[in-house]
Amino acid sequence: MAFLCLFQHFALAGGDAVCYGFPAMESDSPHLRGSLVVFEGIDGTGKSTQVELLARYLRSRGIEVVTGFEPTRGPWGMRVREAALAGDRLSIDEEIACLLQDRREHVREVIEPALQAGKWVLLDRYYLSMMAYQGASGANVEEIREWNEAFATVPDVALWLDIPIELSQERMHARGNGKDAFENEKFLSDCAAIYSAMEMPWLHRVEADGTVEEVHAQIREIIQEELGI
Ligand code: TYD
Repeated sequence: MAFLCLFQHFALAGGDAVCYGFPAMESDSPHLRGSLVVFEGIDGTGKSTQVELLARYLRSRGIEVVTGFEPTRGPWGMRVREAALAGDRLSIDEEIACLLQDRREHVREVIEPALQAGKWVLLDRYYLSMMAYQGASGANVEEIREWNEAFATVPDVALWLDIPIELSQERMHARGNGKDAFENEKFLSDCAAIYSAMEMPWLHRVEADGTVEEVHAQIREIIQEELGI
C-alpha cells in the first residue's frame, strides 16, 4: 500500500523522474500520504472528546495530526451555524449549497494539503453528516453522497459513534446547551436511522454509550486493524 502510494506520487508528479519504487533520499523526498479519519454520529455522542484522545495517541506515536470539524467557522459554515442557532434553518437547498461550498474549501485548503504532506487528518463530522442530517430533512441520501464524493476525499476510516437517542438528549441537556434547530428528538432519531442504514466498507460502528476510556479503546482497536497504528 505504502509502496503503491509512493509509486502513484511519482507517476502523478510526472516530469523526468524515474521511479523504481525506492524512496528518494533528498530532503524534498515525497511524504507517504496521511490517513483521513472522520467521526460521525448524532449530537451528544462525544465526537470532539474522542477526536482529541485519538489525536493525542497518534502524536505520542510520532504522527503529525491535524484536527478539524464541519461545518467549519468559514463564511459558508457560519451561515448554517448561525441560522440553526437562531432556531431558523435555511431552506434545504440553501443549506446543502452552503455546506458543500464549506466542505469544498475545507478539502482544498486544509484536508488535502495535510494528507499530501503525510499528516493524519481527524474530523469531527464530514459528509456522512450531510447524508444523515440533510437526508433526514428530505434530501436524497445517495444523491448527497454522489455530490460529495465528486470532490471530497473519501475517508480511510469513518467511526460512527452510536448512542441511544435518550442518552444523546440527556447529554445535551446536561451540557446546558440551548437546543439548536438540528437537535430535536424526532429529527435526531431520523438521522440515527440513516446512519444505521449506511453501508460503506470503511464505516465502523462504535458503541459510544460506555465511558470515555471504553469508547477510546474501541476506536484504537479499529484504527489498529484498519490502519496498522
Ligand atoms: P455540531 O457538530 O453540533 O457542531 P458544534 O458541536 O460545534 O455545535 O454541528 C453543527 C450541526 O451541523 C449539527 O447539528 C449537524 C449539522 N450538519 C449538517 O446538517 N450537515 C453537515 O454536512 C454537517 C457537517 C453538519
